[in-house]
Amino acid sequence: MWTSWWLWPLVAICTADEFREQAERIMQGTPVIDGHNDLPWQLLTSFNNQLRDARANLTSLAHTHTNIPKLRAGLVGGQFWSAYTPCDTQNKDAVKRTLEQIDVIHRMCQMYPETFLCVTSSEGIRQAFQEGKVASLVGVEGGHSIDSSLGVLRALYHLGMRYLTLTHSCNTPWADNWLVDTGEDEAQSQGLSSFGQSVVKEMNRLGVIIDLAHVSVATMKAALQLSKAPVIFSHSSAYRLCGHRRNVPDDVLELVNQTGSLVMVNFYNDYVSCRAEANLSQVADHLDYIKKVAGAGAVGFGGDYDGVSRLPSGLEDVSKYPDLIAELLRRQWTEAEVKGALAENLLRVFEAVEQASDHTQTPEEEPIPLDKLEGSCRTTYGYSGAPSLHRPPGTLLASLVPLLFSLYLL
Ligand SMILES: *[C@@H]1O[C@H](CO)[C@@H](O)[C@H](O)[C@H]1NC(C)=O
Ligand SMILES: *[C@@H]1O[C@H](CO)[C@@H](O)[C@H](O)[C@H]1NC(C)=O
Ligand SMILES: *[C@@H]1O[C@H](CO)[C@@H](O)[C@H](O)[C@H]1NC(C)=O
Ligand SMILES: [Zn+2]
Repeated sequence: MWTSWWLWPLVAICTADEFREQAERIMQGTPVIDGHNDLPWQLLTSFNNQLRDARANLTSLAHTHTNIPKLRAGLVGGQFWSAYTPCDTQNKDAVKRTLEQIDVIHRMCQMYPETFLCVTSSEGIRQAFQEGKVASLVGVEGGHSIDSSLGVLRALYHLGMRYLTLTHSCNTPWADNWLVDTGEDEAQSQGLSSFGQSVVKEMNRLGVIIDLAHVSVATMKAALQLSKAPVIFSHSSAYRLCGHRRNVPDDVLELVNQTGSLVMVNFYNDYVSCRAEANLSQVADHLDYIKKVAGAGAVGFGGDYDGVSRLPSGLEDVSKYPDLIAELLRRQWTEAEVKGALAENLLRVFEAVEQASDHTQTPEEEPIPLDKLEGSCRTTYGYSGAPSLHRPPGTLLASLVPLLFSLYLL
């Protein structure tokens, strides 16, 4: 059949639209579950978590990468909202601030019940899919949020935390962060200390997903080896394509494959291209690469929206996911592979984590050694003996307070 040459550009446009339409059709049934979004941090920094402030209305909020119309346009069906508090709160008010960020996520669900459904299980995610709502889960970003306490870890689980990133960009007294690999921080735990191993085991027992974004390579390997259940990287890309230490190196990708774990690709320009500029096609390169090295079952999305200052052209906000899916289809990803990356891989990992959990098992009780704790604001109740040896001035009076208090009670 005769075709005029000037029709070819038209054909190309039609094909592009076809992939976009196919992407939307797939996402109607299998919407994207994203591993990491910092909207709660924006709500804190812009409105001090006052959701009733008219400017904080999530329907019209404009200065963020995320709002309700954008989530709808992006066919986002599940989101791990980040309960994040910066490293400078470590040994200060990290626990309080983490609780407040969990609270603001819960209040988002309460205030916009037609959009968000707060859930805590894989079954809950499927329920939200059916109701056409955004399944909303809590991811706590940074081990400093538990203040070296298994009791706090368990309490956060009860408040809905379903992943914990073992570190943010600072060491905790029990796990090393990625800055150890750049030489900016010193290795303290050589991956995970013995208490860090207890944290991982307790997360397995509870059914909290272990998140290895932000940790050092030694911590990645230690956790991958120790965990009974698969783990995630909630927002990290491929080190081979951009040699930033926040990304996942090839030997770790092998372990990801062997353990059935998951890398949810970060869109931050600096991790995608190692430059200030990046584009959608380069994000697709990371997805292709992780698929090639770790398998199609190991790929997901962790855009880091509202947590970063620079995003690739074509992926400016959460409404753009279908364009990225269209690009994967154009690169001949099968429908099954695309569905895996969108939601099914995360659901598989989450279900395995749930199955490995065991609430009948005895909770781990051994506290972190006192000499591993830092920070002058700490009291040492429960660590008997240790504080009595060399009392700093002032603690004598403090030690009298319980006595006075008990007299008062009498
Ligand atoms: C947000 O604004 C919309 C109109 O743009 C309004 O219908 C809705 O009630 C507001 N929501 C809240 C929680 O204030
Ligand atoms: C994306 O960026 C890369 C590297 O700068 C460039 O080679 C490529 O042509 C760009 N792709 C698109 C679709 O703009
Ligand atoms: C791991 O790699 C094998 C062999 O390439 C592959 O069959 C399997 O699906 C991969 N696992 C995941 C989780 O993708
Ligand atoms: Zn992060």
